[in-house]
Amino acid sequence: MYRPLFAVIDLAHLSHNIRYLKSRLRPDASLMVAVKADAYGHGVRAVVSRLAREGVRDVAVASLEEALEIRAFHRDVNILVLGAVTPDACAKAAEAEVEIALTDLSPIDEIPRMPKRLRVHLPLDTGMNRLGVKRTDEAVALARAIAAREDLELVGAGTHLAAADADDPAHASGQMERLKVFARALEEAGVRPARIHAGNSAALLRNPAWHLDMVRVGIAAYGYSPDPSVLPAPSLRPVMSLYAGVLRVARAQPGETVGYGATFAVQRPMSIATVAGGYADGYPRHLSNQGDVLVGGDLRPVIGRVCMDQLMVDVTGLDVATGDFAALFGYEPPALWREGWWNRLHPEERAARVQETYRMASNREERRVLSLDRLAALAQTIPYEILCRVHRRVPRVVCDG
Ligand SMILES: Cc1ncc(COP(=O)(O)O)c(C=O)c1O
Repeated sequence: MYRPLFAVIDLAHLSHNIRYLKSRLRPDASLMVAVKADAYGHGVRAVVSRLAREGVRDVAVASLEEALEIRAFHRDVNILVLGAVTPDACAKAAEAEVEIALTDLSPIDEIPRMPKRLRVHLPLDTGMNRLGVKRTDEAVALARAIAAREDLELVGAGTHLAAADADDPAHASGQMERLKVFARALEEAGVRPARIHAGNSAALLRNPAWHLDMVRVGIAAYGYSPDPSVLPAPSLRPVMSLYAGVLRVARAQPGETVGYGATFAVQRPMSIATVAGGYADGYPRHLSNQGDVLVGGDLRPVIGRVCMDQLMVDVTGLDVATGDFAALFGYEPPALWREGWWNRLHPEERAARVQETYRMASNREERRVLSLDRLAALAQTIPYEILCRVHRRVPRVVCDG
């Protein structure tokens, strides 16, 4: 590690969230965790290993590529591909023992005969208008066509709730009603699969009746409610924190401006910290003149436009120096990450020292959290997008414990 910018992935918090979510889950339902997009940006390898330790047996991804990446290091976990898999890729999925959701891109008669059985899920469109069959007769016909083939096994049927986190639960309730109609039709035709699933994080937090046989949670596992104003979940703990080093602290006088486009005008003598993180790292440019960072024990505003690789922060009146660290989101940096700490470490020992000192601080210090809920709202997006977009050039330092 050379550049002072990294994300800490706190696996203890992942464990905590999973345990909390399980405590909210109906006892007869199981938990599937969405680990698509590199586990929402957290690093799929570490996340899946920890999930396995927590007894999670099912994970979901968006593509066969993502599934195969997991299968390469994990033989036992059950993997479901939620997105489209083409007929030519089905044999590969079967060989790797990966489950797929059938979509229109893989009509059943175009799936070549396979030496190994492929486990499939029926996607049912109950109101999202994205993927899946819309009519019960189509669902029954598809389930029958699957049953007629030796090399296919129908193991599940799922729908996706479009608005389970909305103020008004009516949309999701309507979808659940339509799902019941599908389930009844499949039952009557004698082709009901073992697991019917609909719920996401919002459904898990909102209504046990929506848990069915399995809930597919994503964002809540990573520490955020899908919408905290509707579904507050203060027990969840953010898993990712993004830390950036202070590259310079400079004084500026009235009449000067800050950053590209000179959008911030200095009105009074101030101290400006330049911090190592920009929009190429995944920090939203929308937060120009809007975001805050945790630095020097305080919450301080981003001033001027966010650059590709740096951003500037007003640290007037704070004891902040070059080499100190700021949290761009997540938990306040440990008190030790100051006064040239980073520079004194050998690049090869930095990851280990970050792990050690982060863990010590989380055991001993009362740390403030800069939640992505607030930043995402200011950036007109959602925590999901900010997490997924933390660039691969930002090292993930995985902290166990
Ligand atoms: C089909 C499907 N199921 C479950 C999830 C998990 O949703 P959440 O992260 O809101 O829990 C997603 C996420 O986008 C999804 O696309």
